[in-house]
Order: sequence, then structure tokens, then C-alpha cells
Amino acid sequence: MSLLPILRYPDPRLHKVAKPVAAVDARIRTLVDDMLDTMYEADGVGLAATQVDVHECVIVIDTSDTRDRPRVLINPVLLETSDEMVLGDEGCLSVPTIYDKVPRHARISVRALGRDGLVQAFDAEGLEAVCVQHEMDHLLGKVFVEYLSALKRDRIKTKMLKKAREEQELHANAARRL
Ligand code: NI
Repeated sequence: MSLLPILRYPDPRLHKVAKPVAAVDARIRTLVDDMLDTMYEADGVGLAATQVDVHECVIVIDTSDTRDRPRVLINPVLLETSDEMVLGDEGCLSVPTIYDKVPRHARISVRALGRDGLVQAFDAEGLEAVCVQHEMDHLLGKVFVEYLSALKRDRIKTKMLKKAREEQELHANAARRL
């Protein structure tokens, strides 16, 4: 088990566009397993490879209450999206403590490769549909705060940079105490 460091907004690497996975090989399966460990450890419902600074189209999600229904989506494609939209509160492991409303399709049909490299297609609704759309945005270099107003986004950016600075100082002080 390996935990991967998660990039924090406004890290510019979160805006890189991911490339399709050429082959689901041992390297990709290790990435998937590490991403699942990292997502569960951080208590997240989804994680995109972009967030761990790997710019290939890999997503892991688990929106089950029991946290034992992992779904792996490699090279995901949205086949269909409902006209009906939903507006729910979203958060992101790359933007900790921030939650805000983002419009998403209520229902989607998705096609992707699984961890075994086989094609899978499924329909999703509710939290799972929102989660897939949120993670697919990450692969395009888009973070959910980009749906918010410029004013809100600037406030979040300032808050995240302040938090990062405080954490750095905390680490420096801790090191000095050793
Ligand atoms: Ni996210």
C-alpha cells in the first residue's frame, strides 16, 4: 500500500490535461491501487490521477456508504447525459474544507476500461453521477471552484495559500523543536 501526495489548489499542475492510457499494464494497476488507498485514507468519494500529479485518464470512485464498492474508470467517456441538472454541494480533496454548489447532469451513461482493461459501460445517478463528472473535469484540468464566481474563487485561492503557508510554518517550527 502506498499513499500518494494530493496536489492542493491552486497548484498549476491541477490544470494539466490528462492523456489517454495507452495500455492497462502493471504500472497502471499499481497506480489504480495506490489511488484507491489514497482516496480511502483521505476519506474521499473520488480521486483523479491529475490530483496525484499523474496526467493520464484514470479515476477511482466509491460512493457507497460501506466504502467497499470501488469503481475504476480508465479513459472514461460520457455516452449520454440527462437534460435534467442537479445542484448539489461539492467538495474536493484538492480543495480541503471548501464546499459549494455546482450544476451537474442528474443522470449519465459512462463507458470506460476497468482495472482488468476490459470495457465496461454503466448508468449512474445521484452522488455517483456527480462524482464521475467532478473527476472527469479533473482529467481536463478543471477544478470545481472554476464553476464559482471569480470573487469566490479568489477568496478560496487566498484561503488555500494562507493555509499552505501556515502548515509550512507549523512544520518548520516542529523541526526546530526536535
Ligand atoms: Ni476533486
